[in-house]
Amino acid sequence: MSKIISDDIDHVLLSEEQIETRCKELAAAIEKDYEDRHITPIVVGMLKGSVPFMAELIKYFRHPIEIDFISVSSYQGTESVGDVKIDKDMDLSSKGKNVLIVEDIVDTGRTLREVKKLFYNKGAEDVKIVALLDKPERRVVDIQADYIGFTIPNEFVVGYGLDYNQRYRNLPYIGVLKPEVYA
Ligand code: IMP
Repeated sequence: MSKIISDDIDHVLLSEEQIETRCKELAAAIEKDYEDRHITPIVVGMLKGSVPFMAELIKYFRHPIEIDFISVSSYQGTESVGDVKIDKDMDLSSKGKNVLIVEDIVDTGRTLREVKKLFYNKGAEDVKIVALLDKPERRVVDIQADYIGFTIPNEFVVGYGLDYNQRYRNLPYIGVLKPEVYA
């Protein structure tokens, strides 16, 4: 029998049910903020890690939104590598728009700092961030997501969009890999 990806998981940190419940709460809070200001945001997913989170989150918005994606690269293996590079830009214009960036995790914060700057340089009216996970212990630049799903300890996690060398993104929960997987 060939191995399945869940065999590599040491333990589950956040279950699918926990994530779904939190997504409903986040969507309600976000929508209320935009609705109070009569704003239709562009919800921009950061490829590829945000895809499952974004798909879950936007299901619970009841008012109009636009969606788009951007791809930047900054990470190889388990350590962040300085500057980010824009691999795929958005299709829609963000000029004069209210952008909500959807990110899987805020780690050092370098990626989001660069992406936020990029949107303001392109003339966005306002840029907010929603992140499924936050690892505040790892932060090296002063940036904070406006909406956070879960704050987690300084541990490398996979699943629900998060990868280790491009694998495990399709796990329906957030987990920690067995140490031998890195060996
Ligand atoms: P930052 O620029 O250091 O904040 O890195 C953000 C990116 O690093 C995220 O979008 C993830 O792709 C990746 N990353 C950070 N921590 C983890 C982790 O625990 N597991 C998988 N990817 C991670």
